[in-house]
Amino acid sequence: MRILSGIQPSGRLHLGNYFGMMQPAISLQDEGDAFYFIADYHSLTSLQDPKALRTHVLDLALDFLACGLDPAKATFFRQSDVPEVCELAWILSTLTPMPMLENCHSYKDKTARGLTPNHGLFAYPVLMAADILIYDSDLVPVGQDQKQHVEVTRDIATKFNHTFGETLRLPKSRIKEDVAKVPGLDGEKMSKSYDNTITIFEPEKALRKKVMGIKTDSTPVEEPKDPDASLIVDLFKLVAPEADVDTLKADFRRGGTGYGDFKKRLFEAIWLHFEPMRQRRANLENNLDYVHEVLRKSADRARSIAQTTMDRVRLASGLR
Ligand code: ADP
Ligand code: TRP
Repeated sequence: MRILSGIQPSGRLHLGNYFGMMQPAISLQDEGDAFYFIADYHSLTSLQDPKALRTHVLDLALDFLACGLDPAKATFFRQSDVPEVCELAWILSTLTPMPMLENCHSYKDKTARGLTPNHGLFAYPVLMAADILIYDSDLVPVGQDQKQHVEVTRDIATKFNHTFGETLRLPKSRIKEDVAKVPGLDGEKMSKSYDNTITIFEPEKALRKKVMGIKTDSTPVEEPKDPDASLIVDLFKLVAPEADVDTLKADFRRGGTGYGDFKKRLFEAIWLHFEPMRQRRANLENNLDYVHEVLRKSADRARSIAQTTMDRVRLASGLR
């Protein structure tokens, strides 16, 4: 079984990215032939700053490896090291009805927020379909917001197969429901576009400040608080052992503790949870040659598979 996912290098890794996509993807590396990549072509739709792009690509490579991606198990590469994916995206775009793209939530959300869309942003799901289809992927672990894009991928692949004969394999998305939507500081979905993220690899002081900025209601210290309606508890559940969650919830119900103290506990739990990853990341930062070598070797493997698919696609569509 081929498992594939990608993430854009467009900002610093946050709890939503980690629990929604990265951690589930990494744990799947033991269950099949995993392909994970850094979607740098995609991030050009919103980031047009070469220096920042290079920094984000390297950061994301460090994040993935620090968080447990094992290059002996997973093929881990940079999207643009396999330029064939752009050729496939073009071919697929000729089979993609405009209304299907006009209907995509992520596109609609961005334009609703006043962003003037470029063609790349509009065509984004077609490139994503090419990413998935070029590697004959079976399973695509992503967060809830990407589910529709995987459905679009299936529709485009079906159209291709219908038009040109059975050529492309249909993928399925895998969404880990309990972490499908990690909330941000304001209770909305955590996202770099909403400026409400808790970024993981921050210096201690900055991370603490972020956590202390979580939005809470004005229940006085002495009064009991509802743990089932608390952002602090929701985030704590992600990073703390069950027994600690039970204690926290009991303290919420008992009253006598203020939100400030609960936030401190949350900060400690986040800091502790990511301690091993932080260590590994620091080691990798001192060993960048290794990181570049992993990406290069994986790209070779990915590219040879992509080229095989492209042979099939060109033949089927009459380009050969
Ligand atoms: P952002 O919304 O911060 O721009 P991306 O769109 O780059 O994040 O998302 C990268 C991956 O992380 C995707 O698979 C996405 O579904 C997942 N993801 C992002 N934010 C969250 C969240 N708050 N909860 C769960 N998964 C998320
Ligand atoms: N669109 C995804 C995101 O914003 C990133 C991505 C690009 C992707 N190509 C992909 C995810 C292929 C899964 C499969 O997070």
